[in-house]
Amino acid sequence: MSPPDAGVTLLVSDIHSRYHVIDAQVAHARETLGRAVARVLVLGDFGLFGPNLHDFFRRDGRRFTLPVSFIEGNHEDFRSFDALVEEYADVVTHLPRGSLHDFGSGPWLCMGGARYMDAWSTPSGCEISEDDIDRCLEMEPGSIDIVISHDCPTCTGVVSHPELGHLGPPGVEGLTRVADHLRPRLWFFGHHHRWHEAIIGDTRYVGLPQSWQGYVLLDTDGRVDLVENEVTLPRRPRWWRWIGLR
Ligand SMILES: [Fe+2]
Repeated sequence: MSPPDAGVTLLVSDIHSRYHVIDAQVAHARETLGRAVARVLVLGDFGLFGPNLHDFFRRDGRRFTLPVSFIEGNHEDFRSFDALVEEYADVVTHLPRGSLHDFGSGPWLCMGGARYMDAWSTPSGCEISEDDIDRCLEMEPGSIDIVISHDCPTCTGVVSHPELGHLGPPGVEGLTRVADHLRPRLWFFGHHHRWHEAIIGDTRYVGLPQSWQGYVLLDTDGRVDLVENEVTLPRRPRWWRWIGLR
């Protein structure tokens, strides 16, 4: 597990290669809310695609203003995943599935990946496996303070976004077993493109919308703030919207 690191954490999800949104939300937290953010954690669908990364970080020479880490979603380039993580390690850090970290409030469990939906939406390498679940079930109950995942447990009551309803009921059944076993204090997820809150047993669940609609601030003292803030996006080709992206 990485060493503890204090300060406010900004959680954001579903970047979909709109990398500029991260600094826009950090600036909103600082300038509008007066909150000094220490780091950014992306809850998947960062948009780890070589051409997009190259254009933003190499051709245009852009850099994030803070350390940024991400768990994998389903919209990443899984054919070149390890190579891209290594090539862009100077700008973003990958938190592997099943890894533990400490961002100042106790152990965090990272669970990137998603439930299988269809061949396009769930490329090989992103699907959460039974082996992934089993590794979590071997952890000591009560030993995890916070879980961050891309998809959610089936128990949270999330309803599919209208654009994603054709992909079946939301959530990963195995993650519900992990939740029942570990009983973390907090569980944050993305993927479903909408705010969602639920308290089930000992756990508070917070689902995040797409990155340009808002973010969460988490203090080491346990304070959680859900922040709605729209970031303007340049238009993308119509075919992006046909396949459920914006
Ligand atoms: Fe996703």
